[in-house]
Amino acid sequence: MEKNTLTITDNRTGKSYEIPITDGNIRTMDLRQIKLNADDFGVMGYDPAFLNTASCRSKITYIDGDKGILQYRGYPIEELAERCSFLEVAYLILNGELPTPKELDAWVDLVTHHRMLHETTKSFLEGFRYDAHPMTMLISTVAALSTVYHDARHIHDTETRRLNMVRLIAKMPSMAAYAYRHSLGFPYIYPDDLLTYTENFMTMLFKMVEPKYVAHPVLARALDILFILHADHEQNCSTNVMRSVGSSLADPFVCTAAAASALSGPLHGGANEEVLKMLDEIGTKASVPAFIEGIKAGKGKLMGFGHRVYKNYDPRARIIKRTAEEVFSVTGRNPKLDIALELERIALEDEYFVKRKLYPNVDFYSGLIYQAMGFKPEMFTVLFAIPRTVGWLAQWEELLLDSEQKIARPRQVFVGHALRHLPEVKEREHAPVGR
Ligand code: ACO
Repeated sequence: MEKNTLTITDNRTGKSYEIPITDGNIRTMDLRQIKLNADDFGVMGYDPAFLNTASCRSKITYIDGDKGILQYRGYPIEELAERCSFLEVAYLILNGELPTPKELDAWVDLVTHHRMLHETTKSFLEGFRYDAHPMTMLISTVAALSTVYHDARHIHDTETRRLNMVRLIAKMPSMAAYAYRHSLGFPYIYPDDLLTYTENFMTMLFKMVEPKYVAHPVLARALDILFILHADHEQNCSTNVMRSVGSSLADPFVCTAAAASALSGPLHGGANEEVLKMLDEIGTKASVPAFIEGIKAGKGKLMGFGHRVYKNYDPRARIIKRTAEEVFSVTGRNPKLDIALELERIALEDEYFVKRKLYPNVDFYSGLIYQAMGFKPEMFTVLFAIPRTVGWLAQWEELLLDSEQKIARPRQVFVGHALRHLPEVKEREHAPVGR
């Protein structure tokens, strides 16, 4: 008869332990009973970078990295991107079910009415240098919102928690647009209640002196699709930060600022900006083979390629590639697309990339679309942070409502000095610093 347990024999002592398997996993706390003697701390799992450690039980996003599957609350990303609006998907991610027409109207209204920023946000932004990076401005401004909404710390009060979640989702595009306008020295544009989430965002970004800026519907829809694709991605680096900071019961504004900081790194959301820099560096289609050889020889990484979880084509990259064609039909083809396509073609045939299962990820093509739409590369990660705020908040709330969760506090394997005693100053001999 099948038994849902794992038997471990400790060859140091000859003792055997039977450990329960739940949902295919063991609890690493069950390893602690495996000891050499009563004083021994017990066995831990050592897993730098969490390659094989589940930190939570989650109902939000499902990924099968080998098959290239991504689902939010059970719905395939392809169907959501094709048939939903971003705010509809946001509702789904946050609440577990798609909204009814009435619920959707109420939700869209609610988010729309919270887009305004407190006026002090402007003077806060004025403190940044003219050439400050928009992502860093966004991170700081999100954290600063915590000084405006003092109720944010009441995270266990459902109504207050939900209100601040709505504030964050509604105000992220407004803050992003302000940061962008600041970097260009342009006046800030107030939100317009008559516009959709992405139309309003584009207006706040791009409106100049025309009486009415009208976002191109194809471009507004493309941005909406990109927002859907970026809304959540289970326990990635920034979500792990959101949960980790959230586990100390910090307020959602500072948690989101921390998560956005993690996102800004070039190995995570910052990769889309790096892809554009890389394509600029390559310059022409003819230079692609030499560039690939350089990567294989250890000269850096092919940005926008590879993923911790996907060992197959990233399903988001496939949808983005299709969306790119629609955007280019309006804006004209981004000349860098030819270089990107050639990179992908060669990489997908090359033994180095095939063996390591390196495929284009979400960041490989998104930058090309953003650039064609008129965004500067510095804005690309900001465009990632806006929709991902929904995922961060859903995961943060799930953590708060999970009775198994506690403050996140990993263990370490100490490999430093054993106890030693202080020598006098004159007796100290230093090895060169940085040995
Ligand atoms: N180009 C070249 N080689 C690569 C790349 C790449 N983009 N990615 C991984 N490799 C190689 C590694 O050097 C390693 O080779 P080795 O076995 O010879 O040492 C092997 O593939 C395995 O890679 P790891 O670094 O172990 O993979 P890991 O899961 O830790 O990293 C990551 C995933 C960070 C995404 C990595 O693939 C990478 O740096 N990619 C480029 C940056 C990027 O596009 N990031 C965006 C990811 S998507 C997102 O966060 C939104």
